[in-house]
Amino acid sequence: MEIVRRNNELYAVVDVWQRAGKRIALVPTMGNLHAGHHSLITLARERADVVIASVFVNPTQFGPHEDFARYPRTPDADAAGLAASGCDLLFLPGVEDLYPYGADRSVRVSVPELTGVLEGAIRPGHFDGVATVVAKLFNLARPHVAVFGQKDYQQLLVIRRLARDLGYPIEIVAAPIVREENGLAMSSRNQYLDADQRARASAINVALRAMDEHMRGARPRQEVEAEASRRLTEAGLQPDYAVIRRAADLAEPSPDDRQLVALIAARMGQTRLIDNLLIDL
Ligand code: PAJ
Repeated sequence: MEIVRRNNELYAVVDVWQRAGKRIALVPTMGNLHAGHHSLITLARERADVVIASVFVNPTQFGPHEDFARYPRTPDADAAGLAASGCDLLFLPGVEDLYPYGADRSVRVSVPELTGVLEGAIRPGHFDGVATVVAKLFNLARPHVAVFGQKDYQQLLVIRRLARDLGYPIEIVAAPIVREENGLAMSSRNQYLDADQRARASAINVALRAMDEHMRGARPRQEVEAEASRRLTEAGLQPDYAVIRRAADLAEPSPDDRQLVALIAARMGQTRLIDNLLIDL
């Protein structure tokens, strides 16, 4: 696996691949990679001839009181894991490469509507930061396919809309959520949890599965949401939301909607965890 840090080095490799007619996949990440990320590389390998992964802790998607400075950075382990998962090229830019005018003075890409609810409402500006950096990565890597995890469901919808609205000829592929044995969705932030917190955080997945079951059982939505919040609180979590939304656009579902998604964000101590489950009625 080759490692490049500068934009022009990435361009040069991509040029050669484009001229050779290779189908290119991109997997954007912030590093500190776990089995969830590696599953994205595996999926990308199946969909393309060559796979590029990027590792970049993107400053513009962190709020002023969030964990940008202490976000875990493990580039050597990431490179080893990516090589083992079948990645061909690791793009490891610095802030000055992706934000030549500085992160505060960057051109911004802003996706309307979708970004005002749920995570977007709680983390103002977060999705603009995500859309901005992903647009930059799309421009630099010029992939045919890009793989994103369903774990960050709202992010996936934001990126689909970004790609369609800005006319990127890129197929956006969603990868299933990879979980720990106890059902907790894998996340770089799980390592902030101690053993007891980690065990109790499995209540998130239990609550999601109960929401699915109750919606199938035609229980009223508000009741299902309230019960999920209660379960989380009982497990020692502080829920930010536990809701059922329309899968296509996160709008409040009407009784005719069959494709739904249960979404939970909850805090365990200082650590904020998110998870979701698609519900097909
Ligand atoms: P990061 O949190 O590193 O996640 C990178 C990709 O891995 C995302 O598409 C995310 O949904 C996926 N992922 C994380 N945990 C997963 C799991 N347990 N199962 C399946 N997929 C999982 O998401 C970001 O970085 C950033 O916002 C980024 C898109 C790179 C822009 O900076």
